[in-house]
Amino acid sequence: MAGKRIRSIAVMTGGGDCPGLNAVIRAVVKTAINKHGLEVWGIQDGYLGLIENRMDRLSYNDVSNILTVGGTILGTSNIANPFRLAVPKGRRLQYRDVSDDCLRVLAERKIEALVCIGGDGTMAVAARLAEKGLTIMGVPKTIDNDLYGTDVTFGFDTAVTTATEAIDKVHTTASSHHRVMIVEVMGRYAGWIALHAGVAGGADVILIPEIPYDLSKVCEYVIGRSRRGKRFSIIAVAEGARAKDGQMVVSRRIAGSPDPIRLGGIGHKLANDIGARTGLECRAVILGHVQRGGTPTPYDRTLATNFGHTALELLVKGLKNHLVVLKDGRFSSIGLGQVAGRIRTVPRNHALVRAAVAVGTSFGV
Ligand code: F6P
Repeated sequence: MAGKRIRSIAVMTGGGDCPGLNAVIRAVVKTAINKHGLEVWGIQDGYLGLIENRMDRLSYNDVSNILTVGGTILGTSNIANPFRLAVPKGRRLQYRDVSDDCLRVLAERKIEALVCIGGDGTMAVAARLAEKGLTIMGVPKTIDNDLYGTDVTFGFDTAVTTATEAIDKVHTTASSHHRVMIVEVMGRYAGWIALHAGVAGGADVILIPEIPYDLSKVCEYVIGRSRRGKRFSIIAVAEGARAKDGQMVVSRRIAGSPDPIRLGGIGHKLANDIGARTGLECRAVILGHVQRGGTPTPYDRTLATNFGHTALELLVKGLKNHLVVLKDGRFSSIGLGQVAGRIRTVPRNHALVRAAVAVGTSFGV
């Protein structure tokens, strides 16, 4: 895998912000400068900054004191796709492929490799840029934990911690008012946050996209609890969950975004549906972007540091167009082409699903 020695790299963060992004940037930049004497550029606002040629040199000091800071010092964007850039034309949008311009911008600055920190949308674009000849190393980011090829993404642990705290806190209102409290967490196509936070917070019902629920089973379950003297129930629901005969609840569509659908609202729908069927008082809390905010947990800080360091070491060794992963406890990598267009969902027979069922949790089926 040995290739030409790299002298200059760029780093960018794409997609939604996520706790631990700065920890990865810090690890990439410090390893590059400290250990390998490379020149490092920081691209602003993800692919949008690459398209618009907005980038600056990064020094060791630029990345000092950011390990514990949430968000990304580089800025990010989840609405720009170099292969399908939405450009307003009058009242309508036209789509243009500006990927060649992106490659030219990097070549003009003599940047030889790109570290792309992002989720599935970012990696799908990265794989296509790699096919055009760009040297890329991906780092798996998303609170949803749904990137194919890695057992875990950084940001997930922090999101689960935040969601679990929220579930712990709504117990107070649930038990005092004898209500059904519904906590809606993120997770478009994969229910990892709902599953982990639901189990950790002792939710009575966990609803995830991979297991479409039957509303009558959910209602029977909460009514059954009331009959047994448990006068409240807690439901953890992923934003992408849907009833067996229903659809995901879409809150908006963003033209030009690599994944244009934005979800939100299943919690309120459930509160209405369960309230109407059971007569129980129901309330919903949508956690939304709270889950992406704040300082990363120690686990995410160390995972992000390991991912950033591994990405740089692999690039320096001459590996390209791979995504750094943590698989079976080992840091390694997988080809970007294998990752693009796939996501890692919760298997119905996952050990944690089986454990949750064993302790009496309902998945609404
Ligand atoms: O992919 C990460 C994520 O946080 C999803 O869980 C969520 O559906 C989406 O991003 C929200 O995107 P936005 O920040 O554009 O509302």
